[in-house]
Amino acid sequence: MILEAQSLPTVLYVVAAVLFILSLGGLANQETARRGNIYGIVGMVLAIGATFLLGDFELWNGTAMTLIYGSVAIGGAIGAVLAARVAMTAMPELVAILHSFVGLAAVFVGWSSYLHPHGTETLSRAAQTVHLIEIWIGVFIGAITFTGSVVAWAKLNGKVSGKPLLLPNRHMINLAAVVGSLILVFPFIEMSHGAGGFSYFGFLLLLAMSGVAFGLGWHLVMAIGGADMPVVVSLLNSYSGWAAAAAGFMLSNDLLIVTGALVGSSGAILSYIMCNAMNRSIWNVVFGGFGTDGGGEPAQVGEAKSADDCNHTTAEEVAKAAKNAKSIVIVPGYGMAVARAQHLVKEFSGQMRKKGITVRYAIHPVAGRLPGHMNVLLAEAGVPYDTVLEMEEINDDLPETDLVLVIGANDIVNPGAETDPSSPIYGMPVLQVWKSTKVVVFKRSMRMGYAGVANELFFNENTDMLFGDAKDTVQAILNALSGKAAA
Ligand code: TAP
Repeated sequence: MILEAQSLPTVLYVVAAVLFILSLGGLANQETARRGNIYGIVGMVLAIGATFLLGDFELWNGTAMTLIYGSVAIGGAIGAVLAARVAMTAMPELVAILHSFVGLAAVFVGWSSYLHPHGTETLSRAAQTVHLIEIWIGVFIGAITFTGSVVAWAKLNGKVSGKPLLLPNRHMINLAAVVGSLILVFPFIEMSHGAGGFSYFGFLLLLAMSGVAFGLGWHLVMAIGGADMPVVVSLLNSYSGWAAAAAGFMLSNDLLIVTGALVGSSGAILSYIMCNAMNRSIWNVVFGGFGTDGGGEPAQVGEAKSADDCNHTTAEEVAKAAKNAKSIVIVPGYGMAVARAQHLVKEFSGQMRKKGITVRYAIHPVAGRLPGHMNVLLAEAGVPYDTVLEMEEINDDLPETDLVLVIGANDIVNPGAETDPSSPIYGMPVLQVWKSTKVVVFKRSMRMGYAGVANELFFNENTDMLFGDAKDTVQAILNALSGKAAA
């Protein structure tokens, strides 16, 4: 059977949708992530190509073509440069700002669908009502996603304080904004019908609701503390998916609906998994205020102890302890990413394995600053996948482990999460490194981790602190092992 020219875009859309599903499946696992990425890239190229084929070329004059191709070229070039340059530690910020673009695009699609209702004039009244509701919902979600993502980006890169902004009656403000936006949809629909699909007053109502939703997105994320930003970015990812799906309904574009739904649901599932990993309820995150006792200051627990109260160690001593160990577990955290120490850490584990010592990596679900952060770094360094274990796979083995090296991690190994009910991270499952024979913590100072919580681990009898930039200290251990320094 010969494929008709008109059905080619539809076939390409189906292939692209399948590739997006395969892409998500691939990204769920470190070993298949690269393949998943390639599926996504090919799917997106097909999707864009098919959308060009679907275009109404009669409407596309020279200026329109120049604008469209010019925007694709400029946007593509900026995206490629940003992605190539971004540091792994700045990835959450990049993701947040990219979500803001999706939100803004949904707002623009909604506004333009209303201003230029191509083809909807001939629809029945019921179908027109559905179309107007699609516009309203798409603009509402898109506007919340836009300002929420901009605030998340600003909080993550420090342009706005990570402290939650807790306005009086903030829940009432949010509720009023949602209810107000819902109520305004009724006069919007009535006015638009009365004027044959478009009225200037209806557009003013749409703009007014957009303003309210922009404010709501800003306020919702301003009220959320820095420690919850990863979940917020994942939630905004979900919102951006629903905004894209709504834009798909407005444009009657099936692929956009499918893709938006995939992003929306996977973002929601990821947010749920992350909340579980932090022992938080999703509502507790969404309604904000975590990390404060109501006064806006980050909560701190534990006695005010100093570095003088810790056991100190040296690279040479750690090298010696490593050589004498039978089993070693390495716990990487955000500090390893900052120091870019993963390649040296891999070299160290390789050397230990050659000596017959069992070396494994323990990964906490929220280690670092983005889901899978540590897995990506270790994969980049070429660490064998079968030595990288999830928290629940390795926690039971820690009591039988001779040496645990905590490299730039803090909150994820905090025993207070199990023992101190007053701790803001109480109940968050953690890696129970203190149960091993010996723990060495690699960090530069006594500063707290992301959650702003003191860590009793540093003062335990079986914990030694190795102060310094993780890259320098791991290098010093390698030097000691190779005899460049006294071992
Ligand atoms: P953190 O608790 O943030 O601790 C990182 C530690 O690394 C700090 O104590 C810091 O101490 C040390 N460090 C920083 N730079 C270093 C360097 N160059 N060399 C050596 N050490 C260095 O990290 P974590 O244990 O990975 O826990 C993650 C935290 O981030 C959790 O609270 C989690 O909820 C939150 N979070 C997670 C995500 C996701 S999805 N993974 C996203 C955002 C936030 P010094 O400053 O003293 O060196």
